[in-house]
Parts: sequence; C-alpha cells; structure tokens
Amino acid sequence: MSDILLLHGPNLNLLGTREPDVYGHDSLEDINARAKDQAVSAGASLSALQSNHEGDLVDRVQQTLHDGTRFIVINPAAFTHTSVALRDAFAAVNVPFIEVHISNVHAREPFRRQSFFSDLAQAVICGLGTAGYTVAIGAALTHLGFSDPTI
Ligand code: DQA
Repeated sequence: MSDILLLHGPNLNLLGTREPDVYGHDSLEDINARAKDQAVSAGASLSALQSNHEGDLVDRVQQTLHDGTRFIVINPAAFTHTSVALRDAFAAVNVPFIEVHISNVHAREPFRRQSFFSDLAQAVICGLGTAGYTVAIGAALTHLGFSDPTI
C-alpha cells in the first residue's frame, strides 16, 4: 500500500519525445522519480502507474477501495475528455484526487476544455509543465498531514 497513487493516462509513456514543444523534455521516469523522492523526503510512500488502456486505470482506481491509498494524483491525458468510466471509478471510491495537465488545456483545441474529472477533483493544475506534478504531490502531502520540504 502507498499513501499516494500517481496515475498517468495514454501516451504519457512517450513524454520526453512526444511533442516536446507542448509537453517539455522530461520523461515519465523523471517525473515518477521526482515524485517518489518528494514523497519519501516527507515520510510518505508513493506508487505510480501509466497505462494506455482505460480498463487498467479503472481497475487500479477500484483497487484503492482496499489497498489503503489515501490520495491520488492523476493526469488522465486524453481520457480527461472522453472517459465516463474512469470518472465513475473516482466517484465510486471517493479517494481525494488532484487532476494535473502539463499543458494549458484551455489554450488549446476547444475539445480539451471539457473534463469529466474537474468537478470531482479537489484541485486542477494545468499549464505549469511537469512542475505541476510537484505542486500536486506537495498539496497531497499537506492534505495527508506530512510536511513537504520541496515546496
Ligand atoms: C494532457 C492534455 C490532454 O488534452 C492530452 O490529451 C494529453 C496530455 C496534458 O498533460 O497536458 O495527453 O493531459
């Protein structure tokens, strides 16, 4: 069991090479390593999962009913704009979560302005680049009562 679960949606496995002008140069491994260090420095634990498959993410969110996860940080990527199934999983488990987007989804194509998650999320962070994950993990740690030396 981990205090914090960091979830990444489809195509985020390609970070670092995928549209670097939009998403920057950090790889998913860089993001996960930083997030783990941040959590561990504060005395918390963090596990991470990326999947290109909607059902895998639904299954992982459902597992939080039983595995002791206390907070989720998720970049649902393209599923942000399409996935009622993943939204329903969050509503079902009732674990607090923060939605992160690397890019400013409001400054892009109109379809990216709709999110199936934002009204359920404790907070939404977008447009900060990969620093958005650091802010989200910091807020999660604070919410859980850990003091975060990073921010
Ligand atoms: C994204 C924005 C989404 O619209 C897009 O489909 C992604 C990444 C972001 O982090 O900016 O894959 O969630």
